[in-house]
Amino acid sequence: MSAATAAPPTYVWEPTTDFLAAKYHLPRESIVRFDVNTSPIAPDLGAILGGAFDPPLNEYPPSDYAPLVAAAAQAYGARTDEILPTAGADEALDLIARASLREGSVAVVATPTYAMYRIVSEQRGATVIQVPRLGPEDDFRLDLDALAAAARTAQTVWLCEPNNPTGALEPPERIGRLLAMLESQADRDERELPLVVVDEAYAEFSGRTVLPLRRDYSRLVVVRTLSKAHALAGARVGFAVATPETLAPIVQFRPPASVGTVSAALATAALRRPELAAGNVARIADQRTRLQRDLASIGWRPYPSVGNFILIRFNSPAAAAGAAESLLRRGLVPRSFDTGHPLADCLRLTVRSAPENDRLIEAARGIPA
Ligand SMILES: Cc1ncc(COP(=O)(O)O)c(C=O)c1O
Repeated sequence: MSAATAAPPTYVWEPTTDFLAAKYHLPRESIVRFDVNTSPIAPDLGAILGGAFDPPLNEYPPSDYAPLVAAAAQAYGARTDEILPTAGADEALDLIARASLREGSVAVVATPTYAMYRIVSEQRGATVIQVPRLGPEDDFRLDLDALAAAARTAQTVWLCEPNNPTGALEPPERIGRLLAMLESQADRDERELPLVVVDEAYAEFSGRTVLPLRRDYSRLVVVRTLSKAHALAGARVGFAVATPETLAPIVQFRPPASVGTVSAALATAALRRPELAAGNVARIADQRTRLQRDLASIGWRPYPSVGNFILIRFNSPAAAAGAAESLLRRGLVPRSFDTGHPLADCLRLTVRSAPENDRLIEAARGIPA
């Protein structure tokens, strides 16, 4: 008799637009995704490409993705041998987990945060130690001492900066302090330093990055994406950025050509036009300020955010669930958190375009916090 195998943990999205349109008897076009932290505005491909776009689709992309790597190196202030292109940030997270974790390994996750760190770690058979962030009164800051203590036995430490879903940013100097703490305890224990992964999917919105810290802490891996500020979530392009020595074992797990030719060409062009992403960031920052102000004025409780999303606290998990259902009935899709999640009494809302945010505020007026 074979032992039953537990299903691997998987990522769960909110339902699809078509499903919600059918469930709530709404026109498909009226559904607005406030749940996935993508750009409300499709990228201006004419501006990005600036001319003919004719990627050779009959061929595989160049195995070294040289043009894409060069554009990313320029954008991130790194050398080309420090850049690994991946199919979105999520593929980078998966490859890092594959390279660093196995049955019996330990991974540390600062929670609440993006669910994928726990998922990719557990999929590799690792034990996950969750280290809670400080509370909202302390700006959801990292508990550096608790993280350093947990990291003593860990192979991988996962951090998200700015953090999804709290919207808070740990100042890069404090990440530097954590890295110094890890370094000093590794000397004492004579063991290899843990890999520290800082997922900077939303870095463009905060204008801060820990990228320079890889020079001091060689086991730092920074993950970036074009899905957010560059408005290219559908292209699926991301990067792991680290020293060549740290990247080498991660590269080994990448399937050949996981970033398609069209996506690589689009991403290369987008990275060469940073002013377009900067324009998106500025528009979102304006809307974020306005959304926070308007939601607060009707009695909702938004936390400060440096990302393209806002976390909102309700009086109870039931109130959050009730608000989610009321929004869904109007075709506005929030991100909810499961019962038992530390943020079960919260919703996360993506900052969208002015007219879409108008609809949200209008709907929110009738919904108790
Ligand atoms: C923190 C974080 N990392 C990674 C991702 C996934 O990025 P990508 O679309 O590049 O796979 C997301 C998407 O919401 C995210 O919030």
